[in-house]
Amino acid sequence: MSTEVSDSAPPPPNEAGPAPTRRTFIATTTAVGGVAIAGGVIGGSILSEPEAAAATAAPTSRVALSVNGRRHTFTVDNRTSLLDLLREHLELTGSKKGCNAGACGACTVLVDGRRVNSCLTLAVRLDGAEVTTIEGIGTEDKLHPLQQAFIDEDAFQCGYCTPGQIMSGVGCIEEGHTGSPDEIREWMSGNICRCGCYPKIVRAVEQTAGRK
Ligand code: FES
Ligand code: FES
Repeated sequence: MSTEVSDSAPPPPNEAGPAPTRRTFIATTTAVGGVAIAGGVIGGSILSEPEAAAATAAPTSRVALSVNGRRHTFTVDNRTSLLDLLREHLELTGSKKGCNAGACGACTVLVDGRRVNSCLTLAVRLDGAEVTTIEGIGTEDKLHPLQQAFIDEDAFQCGYCTPGQIMSGVGCIEEGHTGSPDEIREWMSGNICRCGCYPKIVRAVEQTAGRK
């Protein structure tokens, strides 16, 4: 059963005072709503605009790390991935965003010499780390041996996966997981190539490892 509050009906008796009419009820809730829209309601408290902005701001942290031998200090939103830090803050766009979910390896970089998916790595966890990206392993005049091997073996078509493949290959060689094509395939299995260049990629890694 519902109770209707009417302007014309006499207010029912109430020990705490007269019941609100529809008009006073609407006037009160509109005024409260106005404050809530201008500011904010958090945990049942009505906040001023600056208080609401401060309460809802994303937390940030300072992080100092080295990228390709250069030291940088940032204040970043705690949710920033290493991949976004590299691409958006440092304009190092060699590392690619494929799936952004740890499934393709296009974003592979080295952190303190270890292969990581930079899309899954939070930048704030890397204070003091040494990051190496595809931009940091060779120059146009002096390519990294694995970059040269990818060219020699024609180990790419569209090239989108290639920076991640090369960084993963560099890590794979450093780790010593290059005893056979099968071993290379196994240890590079996190790097997907939609163009299907796997046989040539494996050959490029194998040849570079053999030259070490
Ligand atoms: Fe990072 Fe695919 S973009 S694994
Ligand atoms: Fe196109 Fe690997 S070369 S996805």
